[in-house]
Amino acid sequence: MSRLLNQDIFEAIPSPCFVLEEEKLRRNLKKIDEVQKSAQITILLSLKGFAMWSSFSLIKSFLNTASASSMNEAKLCVEKLNELSHTYAVGYRDDEFDELMKLSSHVTFNSLNQYHKFNDQVPTGISIGLRVNPEYSDVVVDLYNPANPNSRLGLTSKSLPKSLPPNIEGLHFHVLCESSAQALVQVLKIFEKKFNKYLPNIKWINLGGGHLITNEGYDVELLVNTLKYFKKTYQVEIILEPSGAIAWRTGFLKTTIIDIVENHGSLTAVIDASFTCHMPDCLEMPYRPEILEGSQDPKKYSFRYNLGGISCLAGDFLEGYSFLKPLKIGDTLTFQDMMHYTMVKTTMFNGINHPSIGVIRSDQKFELLKVFSYRDYRDKLS
Ligand SMILES: Cc1ncc(COP(=O)(O)O)c(C=O)c1O
Repeated sequence: MSRLLNQDIFEAIPSPCFVLEEEKLRRNLKKIDEVQKSAQITILLSLKGFAMWSSFSLIKSFLNTASASSMNEAKLCVEKLNELSHTYAVGYRDDEFDELMKLSSHVTFNSLNQYHKFNDQVPTGISIGLRVNPEYSDVVVDLYNPANPNSRLGLTSKSLPKSLPPNIEGLHFHVLCESSAQALVQVLKIFEKKFNKYLPNIKWINLGGGHLITNEGYDVELLVNTLKYFKKTYQVEIILEPSGAIAWRTGFLKTTIIDIVENHGSLTAVIDASFTCHMPDCLEMPYRPEILEGSQDPKKYSFRYNLGGISCLAGDFLEGYSFLKPLKIGDTLTFQDMMHYTMVKTTMFNGINHPSIGVIRSDQKFELLKVFSYRDYRDKLS
């Protein structure tokens, strides 16, 4: 959220509420489109990290389509983007595959087993790919590292036959997460070494997501030159499918302090939202979001608080945020950069309501898009 946002607009936003700032999304999309155009590649929206479909008309003015990792994402792609998806799932289900193919332009298999099982069911015209695993990644957190030893994600060079089945048109890998262009260069070097014998017969390579193109300091020139080199050397179409980079720093989660509790001299401000339910990456990554009203650096200001979620999970809190002045019940806490891997991962654990969803339009007007109720909780169960 920009500090310049008009206070009246901010007050009109209910709490808790995920708020997309449309102008920031447009700014990211422009940057991503520049890469797409200068390197002459295709960039897809990966729906797994950001699927706020009310923003798809804006997204569609820059990106052609999306990548889907399930039937529901493929359906959303067709219904709300009006385009077929590039589909990749770790495993496909017998009872879904035929319908999934009606929603897809590309299908990527995670294993040769899956390829052999479903190959005959892929209709003509759908481009088939295999996910490979370069077994290298710069990601240090195991939970997010697809190149871990024993990973189930993609075929290693050793597990591939000498030549690929003739109808394989693409190779796909995904091993980065919020990574730099230098990290991609590193991965591509290894990918080239391990998989180059297959490249003459391949039409496209999908380099997955994890390219944090819209982050300050990302070396866009290096990315573009690397992609151009690869495209020219191997005469292949290059596809990227980021999520994080598209929704990076494009919105916030507004919350309100509903209690302040003290234990052994340490204060916790309890908010009307939950880390485990609404901001799970804060616990899983783990990562410490910036907040507008204070600092994630415990030493920056004199008043120190833990921030506590409203669920019963003991670990539903973040330690040691600091503030210029004491917090009080009713104060707002605004968590920054809360658009990617939030709304798509939320749960209603403890029956906690989902935060509302809204948008600040380019003319700075706030629009409330969705409010959740008991019915949403009840209808998720039976
Ligand atoms: C196969 C695949 N593609 C794309 C992405 C999107 O990655 P990011 O949001 O880091 O760009 C992911 C994320 O997990 C993924 O698994």
